[in-house]
Amino acid sequence: MLELRDIAKQWDQRPLLNGVNLRVNSGETVALLGASGSGKSTLLKIVAGLDVPERGSVWFDGEDITRMPPERRGFALMFQDFALFPHLNVQDNVAFGLREQGVGKAAARKQARELLARFGLAAHATARVWTLSGGEQQRVALARALITRPRALLLDEPFSALDAALRDQLRAEFRERIQAAGMTALLVTHDEQEARAMAQHAWGVQDGTLVALW
Ligand SMILES: Nc1ncnc2c1ncn2[C@@H]1O[C@H](COP(=O)(O)OP(=O)(O)O)[C@@H](O)[C@H]1O
Ligand SMILES: [Mg+2]
Repeated sequence: MLELRDIAKQWDQRPLLNGVNLRVNSGETVALLGASGSGKSTLLKIVAGLDVPERGSVWFDGEDITRMPPERRGFALMFQDFALFPHLNVQDNVAFGLREQGVGKAAARKQARELLARFGLAAHATARVWTLSGGEQQRVALARALITRPRALLLDEPFSALDAALRDQLRAEFRERIQAAGMTALLVTHDEQEARAMAQHAWGVQDGTLVALW
């Protein structure tokens, strides 16, 4: 279970987050819905370990991880401005996390290609990432986030660059994949439809705190 306790963070000497409490049960997807500038990305960065709160703590399965470095948290991140490695081809981008974990090159590439096939990207395995369309790059980023079987998935407006049809398809695909893996996920979005399509529960980010939506 992922838990946030009384998280506070200022920006420009104004409170941005001011007493955020949240529980995400294991295997559950929870959405954080809020207007632009409400602090959603900041909150997700605090969960990821890319930002430190001024007050409060982050817990995972009973452990205080507030000051644990991001790479030790075992979370996969997918942010809106996806950053694929331009010097690696598609399959090596996807295989990257496995290589970091010490998986051999051939085995990592094989797993990457299997996942790419399920994402409809088999034909692009050895392509350079910049030759892919924006939507295809987003799908590569999804595959890269999922391949290490993270213990939680943190998604920041993950489908914002996709056209409507592909977005619907990926929302459904992603929801099924998260559920099948029993994965815990936190989804940040300004799009209520996206939250409804993917999350079991949603909270509104408003005036620095969370308001229960469903
Ligand atoms: N590193 C940063 N650089 C610039 N502005 C920031 C930064 N971190 C937070 N902010 C400000 O804090 C507010 C909330 O940002 P953010 O968490 O990205 O909101 P959201 O993701 O809900 O749009 C914004 O008004 C933004 O200007
Ligand atoms: Mg944001």
